[in-house]
Amino acid sequence: MLCLQSHTQDAWLQRAIAHTADILIDHAHCERKAAANALNLLGRFPDHAELQAPMLALAREELEHFELVLAILREREVAMVMQAPSGYQAALFALVRPGMPHKLVDLLLVGALIEARSCERFRLLSEQHPDAALRQTFRSLLESEARHYSVFVRLAEQQAPRDAVRERLQVLAEAERDILDTVKPIARIHA
Ligand SMILES: [Fe+2]
Ligand SMILES: [Fe+2]
Repeated sequence: MLCLQSHTQDAWLQRAIAHTADILIDHAHCERKAAANALNLLGRFPDHAELQAPMLALAREELEHFELVLAILREREVAMVMQAPSGYQAALFALVRPGMPHKLVDLLLVGALIEARSCERFRLLSEQHPDAALRQTFRSLLESEARHYSVFVRLAEQQAPRDAVRERLQVLAEAERDILDTVKPIARIHA
């Protein structure tokens, strides 16, 4: 994923494999949050018509992913529960600047970075998780998460000059790398 400023280390993968149930539960929460985030943007910026079609499509797709992961949890008799957050998302959203268009640009770029990191980590799981069925599941999600990243970046580039958006993406991507280095090492997609 072009924008990411770090590669996920093997320690994350080993933790994810050792705590697969926790990762699947977190994954379900991530898909639900992704759908909710897309709808939230439409609520916060109702006058931005350009957001409507892409965010509705994205929300629909994330809901499908949420259903898929819930079905996998049921199949494996893993109960869906609340989990303590790693703090990753809160730390990223705390970087959103006030005032327009900065606020919308940043919200879209934070969305892009979360998708990019999910995609990077789903790829690792799709290649290296010992469970073949899960490898296939994560493989099936890679393409859409990569596409979501592009959708967010493209929408951000419609809000401000392209160079300024690219520069901001670089700054936020460096912050994302540093946040991952400092959050608690627990079994989460983004930890
Ligand atoms: Fe998704
Ligand atoms: Fe996504």
